[in-house]
Amino acid sequence: MKIGIYPGSFDPITLGHLDIIIRASKLVDRLVIGVLTNISKKTLFSVDERVQFINRVIKENNLDSRVKVEAFDGLLVDFAKVQKASFIVRGLRAITDFDYELQLAQTNHVMVPEIDTIFFTTRLEYSYLSSSTVREIASFGGDITQFVPECIVQSVYDKYNEIGSV
Ligand code: COA
Repeated sequence: MKIGIYPGSFDPITLGHLDIIIRASKLVDRLVIGVLTNISKKTLFSVDERVQFINRVIKENNLDSRVKVEAFDGLLVDFAKVQKASFIVRGLRAITDFDYELQLAQTNHVMVPEIDTIFFTTRLEYSYLSSSTVREIASFGGDITQFVPECIVQSVYDKYNEIGSV
């Protein structure tokens, strides 16, 4: 069984992430979305909320037979080993992602040579997109419907109503 891991902070999941999930899930028998718990960046959404959002998106897109979500902390390669994954999936949005992604992939490969990283070039229409852009637009009450899956739009606005705009 070919298992891939798609790791990230997903704060929140965007249409760019979903595009990678759909394409990557066709290459493997199972894609495990790894939601990082102990991120050095402070997240808007708790790990449970981020996992819940992704689960909702997977269901809505009928991906639940091949894609699952797990929270993880510690090293990505350790999580990948526990999941018996042979691939790590990452998206490349622009050349600016390349240095960081290369360093990550090379380091992970040195630590566990059996695990390779596969890069997907992000679809052009999402190449500018990031979770922080979504958060900023939502914090000012702007329209995020073109950027995140429809089933989580209201939850993102609700969060800002709950905490107040930044
Ligand atoms: N569409 C939209 N946005 C995308 C995207 C895509 N296809 N691909 C990346 N992004 C954005 C994210 O939204 C995020 O935006 P933000 O910074 O505005 O929130 C940004 O790119 C990067 O986020 P992400 O892809 O979630 O990566 P990350 O840097 O938060 O986490 C890990 C990367 C989880 C792979 C890495 O930190 C890790 O492996 N950590 C575990 C510890 C470890 O093993 N360390 C050793 C590594 S050598």
